Amino acid sequence: MRVFSGVQPSGALHLGNYFGMIERAVAWQAKASEPVYFVADYHALTSVHDAAALRQSVREVTLAFLACGLDPKKSVFFRQSAVPEVHELAWLLSVVCPMGMLEKAHSYKDKVAKGIAASHGLFAYPVLMAADILLYQADTVPVGKDQKQHIEMARDLAVKFNEQFGETFKVPEPDIAETVAVVPGVDGQKMSKSYHNTLELFGDAKKFQKAVMGIKTDSTPVEAPKPTDDSTLVALYKLVATPEETAAYVADMAKGGRGYGDYKKELLAKLEARFAPIRERHAELARDPAIVDDVLADGAARARALARPTLEAARRAVGLA
Ligand code: TRP
Repeated sequence: MRVFSGVQPSGALHLGNYFGMIERAVAWQAKASEPVYFVADYHALTSVHDAAALRQSVREVTLAFLACGLDPKKSVFFRQSAVPEVHELAWLLSVVCPMGMLEKAHSYKDKVAKGIAASHGLFAYPVLMAADILLYQADTVPVGKDQKQHIEMARDLAVKFNEQFGETFKVPEPDIAETVAVVPGVDGQKMSKSYHNTLELFGDAKKFQKAVMGIKTDSTPVEAPKPTDDSTLVALYKLVATPEETAAYVADMAKGGRGYGDYKKELLAKLEARFAPIRERHAELARDPAIVDDVLADGAARARALARPTLEAARRAVGLA
């Protein structure tokens, strides 16, 4: 079974990226042989037009995956642009992709609403993403909930192509954990760099502490029971604590008598316990830049070898070879 996923290198990685995708991708290494993960640098060009920043981001994402436990012997890890064949497949999918499918894409509409230029690349983003997935004959794609519609489009395009030209692609399944599907940011909205509400994985430690202590809470007085149902603190605590610890945290809040500051400190301690070793490893790996280069070079060769047979099959199916 092939597990496959990617992340767009734009901006600092945060807890939303970690729980939505990175942690799950790393966990798959124990359950599936040779999962394939990549940094979507072609996709990043839809919003990043700064060569130095893009190069830097690709390295940072690679380093982050390694620090979070990606094992380059177990997994293939590559940068998308190392396998330009994906564009040929994107074209073959483009010709079976109805305009109406792309016009319905939430992500396109959201990004344009946030001020990203409505380029053809941004509009065609889901076709390139489908090509990524289908090129590696993925069975399972671990992603955050925000990518659900994109995976559905990849499935539709696989089915359409197979119907038109004969069985060529596997139809991939999304792997979305509903429990961590939405990681809230410090303001309670979905954590996202475009909402400026993130907790960064590898940012400044002081800034991280300040951001946790600044999580938005309501004005329930210290002695009163705290609402726990929509609590951002509880939602984040749950991600780093056992179910028993979470139950105790919730029960204590519901009892009243302590202020939000205390609960924020407890949350911070849990977050630190989880991420301190990862940050240490990150600092260690960052000392040798050759590590990232080697991982990406090895991943590029392995990814290309996996991609070639599928592209050849697709070329034959449409009559190009
Ligand atoms: N769209 C994904 C994101 O924004 C990145 C991505 C590109 C991806 N191609 C993919 C994810 C293929 C999974 C599979 O993070």
